Amino acid sequence: MLWISIDRESSVPLTRQIYDQIRTFILRGDIGAGEKLPSTRLLAAELGVSRNLIVEVYEQLAAEGFLEGRQGSGNYVAPGAFLERANKFSQTVSSQTESQPERDVDLIDFRSGIPALDLFPRKTWAKVMQRVCSEVHSSALSYGEPEGREELREVLCRYLFRLRGVECRPDQVLITSGATQALTLIARVLVSEGDEVFIEDPVTRDIQTIFAAAGATLCPIPVDELGMQTELLLSDSHPRFVFVTPSHQFPLGGTLPIQRRIQLIQFAREADCYIVEDDYDSEFRHVGPPVSSLQGLFPERVIYVGSFSKTLSPALRLGYLVLPDALVERYRTAKWFTDLHSPALEQLALSRFIEEGHFERHIARMKKVYRRRRNCLIDSLHASFAGRVLITGSSTGMHLVAEFADVIFTQPVVDAALAAGVRIYPVEAHAITKYRHQHKLIMGYGHLEEATIAEGVKRLKSVIDKLL
Ligand SMILES: Cc1ncc(COP(=O)(O)O)c(C=O)c1O
Repeated sequence: MLWISIDRESSVPLTRQIYDQIRTFILRGDIGAGEKLPSTRLLAAELGVSRNLIVEVYEQLAAEGFLEGRQGSGNYVAPGAFLERANKFSQTVSSQTESQPERDVDLIDFRSGIPALDLFPRKTWAKVMQRVCSEVHSSALSYGEPEGREELREVLCRYLFRLRGVECRPDQVLITSGATQALTLIARVLVSEGDEVFIEDPVTRDIQTIFAAAGATLCPIPVDELGMQTELLLSDSHPRFVFVTPSHQFPLGGTLPIQRRIQLIQFAREADCYIVEDDYDSEFRHVGPPVSSLQGLFPERVIYVGSFSKTLSPALRLGYLVLPDALVERYRTAKWFTDLHSPALEQLALSRFIEEGHFERHIARMKKVYRRRRNCLIDSLHASFAGRVLITGSSTGMHLVAEFADVIFTQPVVDAALAAGVRIYPVEAHAITKYRHQHKLIMGYGHLEEATIAEGVKRLKSVIDKLL
Protein backbone atom coordinates (compact mmCIF):
# COMPACT_ATOMS: atom_id res chain seq x y z
CA MET A 1 0.00 0.00 0.00
CA LEU A 2 1.20 3.57 -0.70
CA TRP A 3 2.18 5.74 2.24
CA ILE A 4 -0.10 8.71 1.63
CA SER A 5 -1.14 11.21 4.26
CA ILE A 6 -4.06 13.56 3.87
CA ASP A 7 -4.96 16.71 5.78
CA ARG A 8 -8.72 17.25 5.91
CA GLU A 9 -8.28 20.71 7.45
CA SER A 10 -6.14 21.98 4.57
CA SER A 11 -7.56 24.32 1.94
CA VAL A 12 -5.82 22.17 -0.71
CA PRO A 13 -8.49 19.76 -2.08
CA LEU A 14 -8.03 16.08 -1.21
CA THR A 15 -7.74 15.11 -4.87
CA ARG A 16 -4.81 17.49 -5.23
CA GLN A 17 -3.13 16.24 -2.06
CA ILE A 18 -3.33 12.59 -3.15
CA TYR A 19 -2.41 13.36 -6.77
CA ASP A 20 0.66 15.38 -5.68
CA GLN A 21 1.97 12.58 -3.48
CA ILE A 22 1.54 9.77 -6.04
CA ARG A 23 3.06 11.97 -8.75
CA THR A 24 6.08 12.65 -6.53
CA PHE A 25 6.49 8.90 -5.79
CA ILE A 26 6.59 8.22 -9.53
CA LEU A 27 8.90 11.14 -10.41
CA ARG A 28 11.28 10.17 -7.60
CA GLY A 29 11.28 6.53 -8.68
CA ASP A 30 9.76 5.29 -5.39
CA ILE A 31 7.26 3.43 -7.56
CA GLY A 32 8.96 2.22 -10.71
CA ALA A 33 7.80 1.74 -14.30
CA GLY A 34 5.51 -1.27 -14.65
CA GLU A 35 4.56 -1.37 -10.96
CA LYS A 36 0.89 -1.76 -10.22
CA LEU A 37 -0.93 0.83 -8.14
CA PRO A 38 -3.47 -0.26 -5.54
CA SER A 39 -7.01 -0.58 -6.90
CA THR A 40 -9.20 2.51 -6.58
CA ARG A 41 -11.47 0.62 -4.17
CA LEU A 42 -8.58 -0.41 -1.92
CA LEU A 43 -6.89 2.99 -1.82
CA ALA A 44 -10.22 4.77 -1.20
CA ALA A 45 -10.95 2.44 1.71
CA GLU A 46 -7.42 2.88 3.10
CA LEU A 47 -7.64 6.68 3.03
CA GLY A 48 -11.31 6.90 4.01
CA VAL A 49 -12.30 8.87 0.91
CA SER A 50 -14.77 8.19 -1.88
CA ARG A 51 -13.79 5.85 -4.67
CA ASN A 52 -14.73 8.54 -7.22
CA LEU A 53 -12.06 10.78 -5.76
CA ILE A 54 -9.37 8.15 -6.33
CA VAL A 55 -10.74 7.46 -9.83
CA GLU A 56 -10.36 11.20 -10.54
CA VAL A 57 -6.75 11.17 -9.26
CA TYR A 58 -5.85 8.12 -11.38
CA GLU A 59 -7.54 9.65 -14.44
CA GLN A 60 -5.54 12.81 -14.00
CA LEU A 61 -2.28 10.87 -13.62
CA ALA A 62 -3.17 8.79 -16.68
CA ALA A 63 -4.06 11.95 -18.64
CA GLU A 64 -0.58 13.27 -17.91
CA GLY A 65 1.09 10.01 -18.89
CA PHE A 66 2.19 8.84 -15.42
CA LEU A 67 -0.09 5.80 -15.48
CA GLU A 68 -1.25 3.27 -18.01
CA GLY A 69 -4.54 1.48 -17.56
CA ARG A 70 -4.61 -2.17 -18.64
CA GLN A 71 -8.05 -3.48 -19.49
CA GLY A 72 -9.41 -5.43 -16.56
CA SER A 73 -6.11 -5.51 -14.69
CA GLY A 74 -5.67 -2.09 -13.09
CA ASN A 75 -3.34 0.90 -13.26
CA TYR A 76 0.44 0.63 -13.81
CA VAL A 77 3.22 3.22 -13.70
CA ALA A 78 4.14 4.17 -17.27
CA PRO A 79 7.76 3.93 -18.45
CA GLY A 80 9.88 7.08 -18.62
CA ALA A 81 8.20 9.01 -15.80
CA PHE A 82 11.19 8.90 -13.41
CA LEU A 83 12.96 12.22 -12.95
CA GLU A 84 16.21 12.43 -11.01
CA ARG A 85 16.23 14.96 -8.15
CA ALA A 86 12.44 15.26 -8.46
CA ASN A 87 12.37 15.56 -4.70
CA LYS A 88 13.85 19.04 -4.73
CA PHE A 89 11.60 20.11 -7.58
CA SER A 90 8.40 18.95 -5.93
CA GLN A 91 9.36 20.67 -2.69
CA THR A 92 9.76 23.95 -4.56
CA VAL A 93 6.39 23.51 -6.23
CA SER A 94 4.55 22.69 -3.04
CA SER A 95 6.15 25.52 -1.09
CA GLN A 96 5.11 27.91 -3.87
CA THR A 97 1.55 26.61 -3.65
CA GLU A 98 1.47 27.08 0.07
CA SER A 99 2.79 30.62 -0.08
CA GLN A 100 -0.18 31.82 -2.19
CA PRO A 101 -2.48 34.24 -0.37
CA GLU A 102 -5.00 32.35 1.73
CA ARG A 103 -7.98 34.32 0.39
CA ASP A 104 -7.38 33.42 -3.29
CA VAL A 105 -6.80 29.75 -2.55
CA ASP A 106 -9.96 29.66 -0.52
CA LEU A 107 -12.30 31.54 -2.86
CA ILE A 108 -14.64 29.21 -4.75
CA ASP A 109 -15.38 30.69 -8.15
CA PHE A 110 -18.41 29.41 -10.11
CA ARG A 111 -17.27 31.20 -13.26
CA SER A 112 -18.58 29.49 -16.40
CA GLY A 113 -16.62 28.38 -19.44
CA ILE A 114 -13.36 27.37 -17.75
CA PRO A 115 -12.37 23.77 -18.48
CA ALA A 116 -10.49 21.58 -16.00
CA LEU A 117 -7.11 23.16 -16.67
CA ASP A 118 -5.28 20.73 -14.38
CA LEU A 119 -6.40 17.89 -16.66
CA PHE A 120 -5.00 19.42 -19.84
CA PRO A 121 -3.12 16.56 -21.58
CA ARG A 122 0.23 18.30 -21.10
CA LYS A 123 2.44 15.35 -21.77
CA THR A 124 0.78 14.27 -25.02
CA TRP A 125 0.51 17.85 -26.25
CA ALA A 126 4.18 18.46 -25.47
CA LYS A 127 5.21 15.28 -27.32
CA VAL A 128 3.16 16.20 -30.38
CA MET A 129 4.47 19.76 -30.34
CA GLN A 130 8.04 18.51 -30.02
CA ARG A 131 7.59 16.20 -33.01
CA VAL A 132 6.09 19.04 -35.05
CA CYS A 133 9.00 21.31 -34.16
CA SER A 134 11.62 18.81 -35.12
CA GLU A 135 9.93 17.38 -38.22
CA VAL A 136 8.25 20.24 -40.11
CA HIS A 137 9.88 21.67 -43.18
CA SER A 138 11.46 25.05 -42.49
CA SER A 139 8.97 26.63 -44.92
CA ALA A 140 6.33 26.09 -42.18
CA LEU A 141 8.25 28.61 -40.08
CA SER A 142 7.72 31.38 -42.62
CA TYR A 143 4.63 33.57 -43.19
CA GLY A 144 1.56 31.49 -43.99
CA GLU A 145 -1.86 31.90 -45.57
CA PRO A 146 -4.58 33.83 -43.70
CA GLU A 147 -7.00 30.87 -43.71
CA GLY A 148 -4.54 28.75 -41.70
CA ARG A 149 -2.73 25.44 -42.24
CA GLU A 150 -4.34 23.10 -44.72
CA GLU A 151 -3.49 20.06 -42.56
CA LEU A 152 -5.67 21.40 -39.74
CA ARG A 153 -8.50 22.52 -42.01
CA GLU A 154 -8.68 19.07 -43.61
CA VAL A 155 -8.69 17.22 -40.30
CA LEU A 156 -11.30 19.62 -38.94
CA CYS A 157 -13.65 19.05 -41.88
CA ARG A 158 -13.61 15.31 -41.30
CA TYR A 159 -14.06 15.73 -37.54
CA LEU A 160 -16.89 18.25 -37.89
CA PHE A 161 -18.75 16.14 -40.44
CA ARG A 162 -18.52 13.00 -38.34
CA LEU A 163 -19.33 14.52 -34.96
CA ARG A 164 -21.30 17.70 -35.63
CA GLY A 165 -22.91 17.03 -39.02
CA VAL A 166 -21.18 20.11 -40.45
CA GLU A 167 -20.91 20.01 -44.23
CA CYS A 168 -17.87 21.77 -45.60
CA ARG A 169 -14.69 21.57 -47.63
CA PRO A 170 -11.29 22.66 -46.23
CA ASP A 171 -11.37 25.84 -48.33
CA GLN A 172 -14.47 26.99 -46.40
CA VAL A 173 -12.61 26.80 -43.06
CA LEU A 174 -10.69 29.75 -41.63
CA ILE A 175 -8.58 29.23 -38.50
CA THR A 176 -8.96 32.05 -35.98
CA SER A 177 -7.62 33.13 -32.63
CA GLY A 178 -10.52 31.58 -30.68
CA ALA A 179 -14.23 32.09 -31.26
CA THR A 180 -13.77 35.68 -30.06
CA GLN A 181 -11.75 36.60 -33.15
CA ALA A 182 -14.16 34.63 -35.36
CA LEU A 183 -17.04 36.76 -34.04
CA THR A 184 -15.01 39.96 -34.40
CA LEU A 185 -14.31 39.09 -38.05
CA ILE A 186 -18.00 38.36 -38.63
CA ALA A 187 -18.89 41.79 -37.27
CA ARG A 188 -16.16 43.48 -39.30
CA VAL A 189 -17.17 41.84 -42.59
CA LEU A 190 -20.95 41.92 -42.30
CA VAL A 191 -21.86 44.92 -40.16
CA SER A 192 -21.99 48.58 -41.15
CA GLU A 193 -23.00 51.37 -38.77
CA GLY A 194 -26.68 51.02 -37.82
CA ASP A 195 -27.22 47.55 -39.32
CA GLU A 196 -29.61 45.38 -37.33
CA VAL A 197 -28.36 42.17 -35.78
CA PHE A 198 -30.88 39.78 -34.18
CA ILE A 199 -29.38 38.24 -31.09
CA GLU A 200 -30.47 35.89 -28.31
CA ASP A 201 -31.39 37.65 -25.08
CA PRO A 202 -29.73 36.92 -22.68
CA VAL A 203 -26.41 36.30 -24.40
CA THR A 204 -22.84 36.61 -23.21
CA ARG A 205 -21.94 40.27 -22.68
CA ASP A 206 -18.67 39.99 -24.61
CA ILE A 207 -20.56 39.06 -27.76
CA GLN A 208 -22.94 42.01 -27.33
CA THR A 209 -19.88 44.25 -26.99
CA ILE A 210 -18.19 42.82 -30.12
CA PHE A 211 -21.23 43.35 -32.35
CA ALA A 212 -22.13 46.74 -30.86
CA ALA A 213 -18.54 47.99 -31.27
CA ALA A 214 -18.80 47.26 -35.00
CA GLY A 215 -21.82 49.60 -35.15
CA ALA A 216 -24.60 47.00 -34.99
CA THR A 217 -28.00 47.84 -33.54
CA LEU A 218 -28.76 44.83 -31.35
CA CYS A 219 -32.34 43.55 -31.58
CA PRO A 220 -32.88 41.16 -28.67
CA ILE A 221 -34.95 38.03 -29.30
CA PRO A 222 -36.03 36.48 -25.99
CA VAL A 223 -34.77 33.05 -24.99
CA ASP A 224 -36.71 30.45 -23.00
CA GLU A 225 -35.67 27.04 -21.70
CA LEU A 226 -35.40 25.72 -25.29
CA GLY A 227 -33.36 28.58 -26.73
CA MET A 228 -34.29 31.47 -29.02
CA GLN A 229 -38.06 32.01 -29.32
CA THR A 230 -38.01 31.90 -33.09
CA GLU A 231 -41.75 32.56 -33.36
CA LEU A 232 -40.90 36.15 -32.34
CA LEU A 233 -38.77 36.78 -35.46
CA LEU A 234 -40.81 39.30 -37.43
CA SER A 235 -41.33 38.34 -41.05
CA ASP A 236 -40.86 41.83 -42.54
CA SER A 237 -37.49 42.55 -40.88
CA HIS A 238 -34.04 42.47 -42.52
CA PRO A 239 -31.15 41.99 -40.08
CA ARG A 240 -27.61 41.34 -41.36
CA PHE A 241 -27.61 38.10 -39.38
CA VAL A 242 -29.21 36.23 -36.50
CA PHE A 243 -26.80 35.12 -33.75
CA VAL A 244 -27.64 31.82 -31.99
CA THR A 245 -26.05 29.21 -29.72
CA PRO A 246 -28.45 26.39 -30.69
CA SER A 247 -26.63 23.38 -29.18
CA HIS A 248 -26.32 24.92 -25.72
CA GLN A 249 -27.71 28.42 -25.36
CA PHE A 250 -25.40 30.70 -23.43
CA PRO A 251 -26.26 31.35 -20.65
CA LEU A 252 -29.66 29.65 -20.18
CA GLY A 253 -28.52 26.30 -21.54
CA GLY A 254 -31.43 25.23 -23.81
CA THR A 255 -31.05 23.08 -26.93
CA LEU A 256 -32.98 24.48 -29.89
CA PRO A 257 -35.55 21.91 -31.09
CA ILE A 258 -35.85 21.04 -34.77
CA GLN A 259 -39.14 22.97 -35.18
CA ARG A 260 -37.43 26.21 -34.10
CA ARG A 261 -34.36 25.44 -36.24
CA ILE A 262 -36.63 25.15 -39.27
CA GLN A 263 -38.48 28.34 -38.32
CA LEU A 264 -35.13 30.15 -38.03
CA ILE A 265 -33.94 28.87 -41.40
CA GLN A 266 -37.22 29.92 -43.03
CA PHE A 267 -36.84 33.36 -41.49
CA ALA A 268 -33.23 33.68 -42.79
CA ARG A 269 -34.36 32.64 -46.29
CA GLU A 270 -37.15 35.25 -46.35
CA ALA A 271 -35.04 37.99 -44.77
CA ASP A 272 -32.09 37.06 -47.02
CA CYS A 273 -29.72 37.14 -44.05
CA TYR A 274 -27.10 34.89 -42.49
CA ILE A 275 -27.34 32.82 -39.33
CA VAL A 276 -24.28 32.82 -37.06
CA GLU A 277 -24.11 29.53 -35.14
CA ASP A 278 -21.77 29.63 -32.13
CA ASP A 279 -21.07 25.99 -31.19
CA TYR A 280 -18.77 26.73 -28.28
CA ASP A 281 -19.15 23.69 -25.98
CA SER A 282 -21.52 21.12 -27.53
CA GLU A 283 -18.96 18.29 -27.33
CA PHE A 284 -19.95 17.76 -23.71
CA ARG A 285 -23.50 16.46 -23.99
CA HIS A 286 -24.58 14.79 -20.74
CA VAL A 287 -28.22 13.93 -21.38
CA GLY A 288 -29.79 12.54 -24.54
CA PRO A 289 -28.18 11.90 -27.92
CA PRO A 290 -25.79 14.44 -29.51
CA VAL A 291 -27.52 17.22 -31.41
CA SER A 292 -26.34 18.00 -34.93
CA SER A 293 -25.33 21.45 -36.03
CA LEU A 294 -27.69 23.95 -37.64
CA GLN A 295 -25.05 24.41 -40.35
CA GLY A 296 -25.73 20.90 -41.69
CA LEU A 297 -29.34 21.91 -42.41
CA PHE A 298 -28.54 25.14 -44.26
CA PRO A 299 -24.82 25.32 -45.20
CA GLU A 300 -25.27 28.09 -47.75
CA ARG A 301 -26.46 30.61 -45.15
CA VAL A 302 -25.01 29.49 -41.80
CA ILE A 303 -21.66 30.79 -40.55
CA TYR A 304 -20.44 28.18 -38.09
CA VAL A 305 -18.13 29.21 -35.24
CA GLY A 306 -16.10 26.72 -33.20
CA SER A 307 -13.40 26.86 -30.55
CA PHE A 308 -10.84 24.70 -28.76
CA SER A 309 -11.07 26.83 -25.60
CA LYS A 310 -13.50 24.50 -23.84
CA THR A 311 -12.35 21.17 -25.29
CA LEU A 312 -8.63 21.83 -24.65
CA SER A 313 -7.61 25.20 -23.22
CA PRO A 314 -8.50 28.90 -23.70
CA ALA A 315 -4.75 29.65 -23.65
CA LEU A 316 -4.28 27.96 -27.04
CA ARG A 317 -6.37 30.73 -28.64
CA LEU A 318 -7.48 28.48 -31.47
CA GLY A 319 -10.92 28.55 -33.04
CA TYR A 320 -12.39 28.50 -36.52
CA LEU A 321 -15.08 29.64 -38.88
CA VAL A 322 -16.88 27.50 -41.44
CA LEU A 323 -18.07 29.90 -44.11
CA PRO A 324 -20.57 29.78 -46.95
CA ASP A 325 -18.64 29.90 -50.26
CA ALA A 326 -19.78 33.44 -51.03
CA LEU A 327 -18.03 34.81 -47.92
CA VAL A 328 -14.67 32.98 -47.98
CA GLU A 329 -12.60 35.59 -49.80
CA ARG A 330 -13.85 38.52 -47.68
CA TYR A 331 -12.95 36.71 -44.48
CA ARG A 332 -9.49 35.75 -45.76
CA THR A 333 -8.86 39.44 -46.37
CA ALA A 334 -10.25 40.49 -42.97
CA LYS A 335 -8.08 37.91 -41.22
CA TRP A 336 -5.01 39.08 -43.15
CA PHE A 337 -5.66 42.66 -42.03
CA THR A 338 -6.07 41.57 -38.42
CA ASP A 339 -2.97 39.43 -37.82
CA LEU A 340 -1.91 37.78 -41.13
CA HIS A 341 -2.69 34.31 -39.76
CA SER A 342 -2.86 32.33 -36.52
CA PRO A 343 0.34 30.68 -35.19
CA ALA A 344 1.32 27.82 -37.51
CA LEU A 345 3.13 25.43 -35.16
CA GLU A 346 0.15 25.24 -32.81
CA GLN A 347 -2.12 24.58 -35.78
CA LEU A 348 0.13 21.76 -36.99
CA ALA A 349 0.33 20.27 -33.50
CA LEU A 350 -3.45 20.44 -33.18
CA SER A 351 -4.02 18.74 -36.53
CA ARG A 352 -1.78 15.82 -35.46
CA PHE A 353 -3.35 15.77 -32.01
CA ILE A 354 -6.77 15.29 -33.64
CA GLU A 355 -5.58 12.92 -36.36
CA GLU A 356 -3.83 10.60 -33.89
CA GLY A 357 -7.01 10.28 -31.82
CA HIS A 358 -5.77 12.17 -28.74
CA PHE A 359 -8.45 14.85 -29.08
CA GLU A 360 -11.41 12.48 -29.05
CA ARG A 361 -9.86 10.46 -26.24
CA HIS A 362 -9.41 13.65 -24.22
CA ILE A 363 -13.01 14.68 -24.85
CA ALA A 364 -14.29 11.26 -23.81
CA ARG A 365 -12.23 11.45 -20.61
CA MET A 366 -13.34 15.01 -19.83
CA LYS A 367 -16.98 14.19 -20.50
CA LYS A 368 -16.85 11.69 -17.64
CA VAL A 369 -15.17 14.22 -15.35
CA TYR A 370 -17.69 16.97 -16.23
CA ARG A 371 -20.64 14.64 -15.86
CA ARG A 372 -19.52 13.75 -12.33
CA ARG A 373 -19.00 17.42 -11.47
CA ARG A 374 -22.39 18.35 -12.96
CA ASN A 375 -24.14 15.62 -10.98
CA CYS A 376 -22.33 16.74 -7.85
CA LEU A 377 -23.48 20.35 -8.35
CA ILE A 378 -27.08 19.26 -9.00
CA ASP A 379 -27.09 16.96 -5.96
CA SER A 380 -25.51 19.61 -3.71
CA LEU A 381 -28.03 22.26 -4.82
CA HIS A 382 -30.95 19.89 -4.24
CA ALA A 383 -29.58 18.79 -0.88
CA SER A 384 -29.07 22.39 0.30
CA PHE A 385 -32.11 24.10 -1.19
CA ALA A 386 -34.59 21.26 -1.85
CA GLY A 387 -37.70 22.69 -3.57
CA ARG A 388 -36.38 26.28 -3.47
CA VAL A 389 -34.06 25.82 -6.43
CA LEU A 390 -34.96 25.12 -10.06
CA ILE A 391 -32.10 23.77 -12.16
CA THR A 392 -32.18 24.20 -15.93
CA GLY A 393 -29.83 24.08 -18.90
CA SER A 394 -27.70 21.26 -17.51
CA SER A 395 -27.89 18.81 -20.42
CA THR A 396 -24.70 20.04 -22.12
CA GLY A 397 -21.43 21.82 -21.44
CA MET A 398 -19.80 22.94 -18.21
CA HIS A 399 -22.41 25.19 -16.61
CA LEU A 400 -26.03 25.13 -15.54
CA VAL A 401 -28.58 27.70 -14.40
CA ALA A 402 -29.93 27.70 -10.84
CA GLU A 403 -33.08 29.74 -10.19
CA PHE A 404 -34.08 30.77 -6.68
CA ALA A 405 -37.63 32.18 -6.73
CA ASP A 406 -37.15 34.00 -3.41
CA VAL A 407 -33.80 35.71 -4.18
CA ILE A 408 -32.93 38.64 -6.42
CA PHE A 409 -29.23 38.54 -7.26
CA THR A 410 -28.27 42.20 -6.96
CA GLN A 411 -24.70 43.51 -6.57
CA PRO A 412 -24.91 43.56 -2.73
CA VAL A 413 -25.85 39.84 -2.82
CA VAL A 414 -22.89 39.12 -5.11
CA ASP A 415 -20.66 41.08 -2.69
CA ALA A 416 -22.04 39.23 0.33
CA ALA A 417 -21.30 35.92 -1.42
CA LEU A 418 -17.77 37.07 -2.16
CA ALA A 419 -17.30 37.94 1.51
CA ALA A 420 -18.44 34.39 2.30
CA GLY A 421 -15.80 32.98 -0.04
CA VAL A 422 -17.90 32.19 -3.12
CA ARG A 423 -18.00 34.11 -6.40
CA ILE A 424 -21.38 33.97 -8.16
CA TYR A 425 -22.60 35.14 -11.57
CA PRO A 426 -26.16 36.45 -12.07
CA VAL A 427 -27.75 35.77 -15.47
CA GLU A 428 -29.13 39.32 -15.34
CA ALA A 429 -25.63 40.67 -16.12
CA HIS A 430 -25.95 39.14 -19.61
CA ALA A 431 -29.53 40.30 -20.23
CA ILE A 432 -30.21 43.00 -22.83
CA THR A 433 -33.81 43.46 -21.66
CA LYS A 434 -33.52 43.85 -17.92
CA TYR A 435 -35.49 42.40 -14.98
CA ARG A 436 -36.45 39.05 -16.55
CA HIS A 437 -33.71 36.87 -15.10
CA GLN A 438 -32.98 38.39 -11.69
CA HIS A 439 -33.54 35.16 -9.79
CA LYS A 440 -31.04 33.11 -11.79
CA LEU A 441 -27.35 32.28 -11.42
CA ILE A 442 -25.02 30.81 -14.05
CA MET A 443 -22.96 28.18 -12.27
CA GLY A 444 -19.82 26.89 -14.00
CA TYR A 445 -18.46 23.60 -12.67
CA GLY A 446 -15.93 22.39 -15.28
CA HIS A 447 -12.88 23.64 -13.37
CA LEU A 448 -14.06 22.70 -9.86
CA GLU A 449 -13.46 19.41 -8.09
CA GLU A 450 -16.43 17.75 -6.46
CA ALA A 451 -15.45 18.58 -2.88
CA THR A 452 -15.00 22.23 -3.89
CA ILE A 453 -18.41 22.30 -5.59
CA ALA A 454 -20.09 20.91 -2.47
CA GLU A 455 -18.30 23.47 -0.27
CA GLY A 456 -19.22 26.31 -2.67
CA VAL A 457 -22.90 25.38 -2.51
CA LYS A 458 -22.69 25.26 1.29
CA ARG A 459 -21.28 28.79 1.31
CA LEU A 460 -23.99 29.96 -1.10
CA LYS A 461 -26.62 28.49 1.19
CA SER A 462 -25.25 30.38 4.18
CA VAL A 463 -25.48 33.64 2.17
CA ILE A 464 -29.02 32.96 0.96
CA ASP A 465 -30.18 31.81 4.40
CA LYS A 466 -28.95 35.11 5.89
CA LEU A 467 -30.78 37.10 3.23
CA LEU A 468 -34.10 35.45 3.90
C1 LIG B 1 -20.98 31.60 -25.98
C2 LIG B 1 -19.51 31.77 -26.14
N1 LIG B 1 -19.00 31.95 -27.36
C3 LIG B 1 -17.69 32.16 -27.55
C4 LIG B 1 -16.80 32.22 -26.50
C5 LIG B 1 -15.36 32.58 -26.76
O1 LIG B 1 -14.50 31.55 -26.82
P1 LIG B 1 -12.97 31.70 -27.24
O2 LIG B 1 -12.16 31.44 -26.02
O3 LIG B 1 -12.78 30.64 -28.28
O4 LIG B 1 -12.68 33.05 -27.81
C6 LIG B 1 -17.27 32.01 -25.22
C7 LIG B 1 -16.33 32.03 -24.08
O5 LIG B 1 -16.62 31.67 -22.97
C8 LIG B 1 -18.66 31.78 -25.03
O6 LIG B 1 -19.15 31.61 -23.80
